[in-house]
Amino acid sequence: TRTPVNVTVTGAAGQIGYSLLFRIAAGHLLGPDVPVKLRLLEITPALKAAEGTAMELDDCAFPLLRGIEITDDLKTAFDGSNVALLVGAMPRKAGMERGDLLSANGGIFKPQGRAINDHAADDIRVLVVGNPANTNGLIAASNAPDVPKTRFSAMTRLDHNRAVAQLAKKTGAAVTEISNLTIWGNHSATQYPDIFHAKVGGKNAAELVNDQAWLENDFIPTVAKRGAAIIEARGLSSAASAASAALDHVRTWFHGTAEGDWTSMGIVSDGSYGVPEGLVSSFPVTTKDGDYQIVQGLELDAFSRERVDASVAELVSERDEVAKLGLV
Ligand code: NAI
Repeated sequence: TRTPVNVTVTGAAGQIGYSLLFRIAAGHLLGPDVPVKLRLLEITPALKAAEGTAMELDDCAFPLLRGIEITDDLKTAFDGSNVALLVGAMPRKAGMERGDLLSANGGIFKPQGRAINDHAADDIRVLVVGNPANTNGLIAASNAPDVPKTRFSAMTRLDHNRAVAQLAKKTGAAVTEISNLTIWGNHSATQYPDIFHAKVGGKNAAELVNDQAWLENDFIPTVAKRGAAIIEARGLSSAASAASAALDHVRTWFHGTAEGDWTSMGIVSDGSYGVPEGLVSSFPVTTKDGDYQIVQGLELDAFSRERVDASVAELVSERDEVAKLGLV
């Protein structure tokens, strides 16, 4: 019997938490043979709601769930943590400037980065879901100097999955026939979903589609603005799909990308593809056993280059803003 893996989830009482926790406990994060202990971090006023969720988790009698701890204390939440899913964040409120949003989130992700640095297990892997995810990831990683930067990631897997679904719809292919898709840049409306290297049933996706107008006026904006479309339709932001993408992200990170394929992850740039070193930006990566490598040597034509650069420019401005605030 395996020792349980300690999984910390922040923002556990929120919408994503309500979907995510049950699937983690069901074995969808690490696999059907890996027992888990959950640490749920919430702010004090939401502890009671988190307890409600924990009661329901108990009531599922999940065979793999070996304990639930609910806390508003950072040390308790991250002590011995092996996998941390940082979901809780400060949402943008009406009238809030981007600087205010970054500063409010800095107040969350800076101390969480420190707590991960000081208390997490040596093999800690971190996924930042809470928005602005890339820059929150940058803040957390920057405040955990003793943890390798490669342990921090930000979620663009939902964007990746959205792009796969849209491309499948357009080509009539099954989602399982689609590979080598990339989300570049920021998890925001500037992101660039790239189908020029993607394949549909082994054929180049862009050539197969052969429809630049669809790419520019339909595919890219549909993927990039999907979050807003969900809010418009549902009255609430994406939650079950975000939780599902978080599970995919971590499972792929540990279990690996398929031979010849890759996935998209927001990671600390090493300067590849001209993305300034240190920015948390989305790249095509292959993964294995909790490590990743950026796929090298992809050609970016002028169309793709311009879009990658625009998203990266936004990341640079977010970084400059949080640097001014002393958060990185
Ligand atoms: P929500 O508002 O329902 O839940 C957030 C929870 O975080 C709340 O329960 C709140 O009390 C908690 N929280 C706030 N500050 C905290 C702190 N310092 N420590 C611990 N918990 C804290 O929001 P929802 O829908 O669950 O979304 C969570 C985040 O995920 C949002 O920032 C959202 O924008 C982001 N998101 C990111 C996606 C991505 O693709 N990267 C996709 C969808 C959502």
